[in-house]
Amino acid sequence: MRVLDRGDQLRKELDAARAAGRIVGLVATMGALHEGHASLIRRSAAECDVTALTVFVNPLQFGPSEDFAAYPRSLAADIDLAAAAGAAIVFAPTVEEMYPDRPTITVAVAGEDVLEGASRPGHFDGVATVLAKLFNLAGPCRAYFGEKDWQQLRVVRRLVADLSFPVEVVACPTVREADGLAISSRNARLSAEERRAATVLYRALTAHPALPMADMVATEPLASLDYAEVVGDRLVIAARIGDVRLIDNVPVGKAEVR
Ligand code: PAJ
Repeated sequence: MRVLDRGDQLRKELDAARAAGRIVGLVATMGALHEGHASLIRRSAAECDVTALTVFVNPLQFGPSEDFAAYPRSLAADIDLAAAAGAAIVFAPTVEEMYPDRPTITVAVAGEDVLEGASRPGHFDGVATVLAKLFNLAGPCRAYFGEKDWQQLRVVRRLVADLSFPVEVVACPTVREADGLAISSRNARLSAEERRAATVLYRALTAHPALPMADMVATEPLASLDYAEVVGDRLVIAARIGDVRLIDNVPVGKAEVR
């Protein structure tokens, strides 16, 4: 596995791979890798000839009061996990490499100022801008994203359609702990008591359909609900457990099958 920190190196390696007829898969992450990320890397490695993993904590997608500086960084462990999961390339650039100057041209996402977009103004612009850059640098044939970040997946599909990126977006199922909690790097910040309370998101998503999600969250004193809605074919939820904001979603109908 090769570890690269320069965009021109990444482009050169993957241009050569595609020129040799290889299918290139991309898994974009902010590092602090866990089993959810590993599932994306394994899926890409199974379906593509060359899998490139990107590890970049993207300042553009964090609001001024969000946790950019505190976001966990663990590149050495990430490299080990990436190799074990089947990545051929890890691209881990610095902020200066990605944004030598503060960008004057960015991608503006319209119509997503709901759900995550409502509490995180500018977040999806930052996500779309960094993904546009990563798609341009890597030129992937396929790019793998988790359903865990369902609204982000919707934004990525629109980015690819609206700006005509020649990449196939592949959605991958949410990986959960045994008790249903969706795996997230933010889970590590929960106390033992909060960790138990955090299962209320999945309990709300999969409760009997007659029990409103908000009522289930209200049974958990450590949880404060941000939103719980039906959006298209999805039940989506966000709640704060102590200081930690968690999100989750399932397809409508999940409650009945459990
Ligand atoms: P990050 O939060 O590191 O997530 C990277 C990818 O892993 C995303 O596609 C996310 O949906 C997926 N993922 C995270 N937890 C998962 C889980 N439990 N099961 C399945 N997939 C999971 O999302 C981002 O980074 C950034 O916004 C990024 C797209 C890299 C742009 O900066």
